[in-house]
Amino acid sequence: MRIAVFAGDGIGPEVTEQAVRVLEKLDLPGLELVEGDVGGAAYYKHGHPLPAETLDVARSAQAILFGAVGDFSCDHLERHLRPEQAILGLRKELGLFANLRPAQVFAGLEDLTTLRPEVASKIDLLIVRELNGDVYFGEKGMRRLEDGRRQGWDMMSYAEDEVRRIAQVGFKAAMGRSKKLCSVDKANVLETSQLWRDVVIEVAKEYPEVELTHMYVDNAAMQLVKNPGQFDVIVTGNLFGDILSDQASMCVGSIGLLASASLAEGTYGLYEPIHGSAPDIAGKGLANPMATILSAAMLLRHSLGLEAAAARIEAAVAKTLADGIKGGDLGGTAGTREIGDAVLERL
Ligand code: IPM
Ligand code: MG
Repeated sequence: MRIAVFAGDGIGPEVTEQAVRVLEKLDLPGLELVEGDVGGAAYYKHGHPLPAETLDVARSAQAILFGAVGDFSCDHLERHLRPEQAILGLRKELGLFANLRPAQVFAGLEDLTTLRPEVASKIDLLIVRELNGDVYFGEKGMRRLEDGRRQGWDMMSYAEDEVRRIAQVGFKAAMGRSKKLCSVDKANVLETSQLWRDVVIEVAKEYPEVELTHMYVDNAAMQLVKNPGQFDVIVTGNLFGDILSDQASMCVGSIGLLASASLAEGTYGLYEPIHGSAPDIAGKGLANPMATILSAAMLLRHSLGLEAAAARIEAAVAKTLADGIKGGDLGGTAGTREIGDAVLERL
């Protein structure tokens, strides 16, 4: 059982350290953790945000526990050398095409949302975001128009097999929850979205029990703040999913608690907190490691089939919260290490 640990930038190393302590405490037979450099940290050490050594480590493992990437000091670099390329490269190179981002309100934390608590308390949704295609990975460039004006351009496209496999993930997730799937697109304007919608409707025939709806992305953004309780599973493309998943996480108000999984075909996956590298609080011991600890639980469940160990971690985090030990992001005062200690004690 080999897990690659890529801590990355900003608060990544601090929060990952606590998740590693939790994994080690479980004393799982045969568990081996191997580290690798990613992001700005890797750029400064190896000249590249995703060095070949790191990819080798990833390939030799069964799953990746990922911290965060992003470093303002790299903003001037050419795009292919920026920290974000580490996560984009891992997604592409390892075929991590399905991003699962659950968002729910944790009991006792209803007051943290910026929505009215009675609206937010109904949130229990899962965003299934496609991660390998769309405008993220299309051709792109900067060019001069004939009249001399500069133009930036990015090509958006989806091939039908790419839509089909993420739709399958969406329908399967819906089958395991309340059998409601909302596909989000912009089919009133984009051909990419028209194909998306057509293919999702085709796949729906294999899942007669699932109630499928379609929503334009602008409306989905509005409905997420108006009546988020209406959603169960949302399936959408890479760009729309990027935006809507940040929005959904803020609707529940506790981004420091939200974990995510990026899955390939089979059991391989990368697990990371939804929050970013938070450079403003990096290195101060203030970051809440709970989302990373919960990501480690997701890893044990999905990639290693260790349900009991995953549940143990989740219960320990829930107990820590119930005992009032909260990070600054949740209105509490506990620091990174203190939260790690508290979870370990309750494990
Ligand atoms: C995310 C992030 C990434 C994305 C960035 C860091 C490239 O925002 O995982 O949502 O846009 O996918
Ligand atoms: Mg994002």
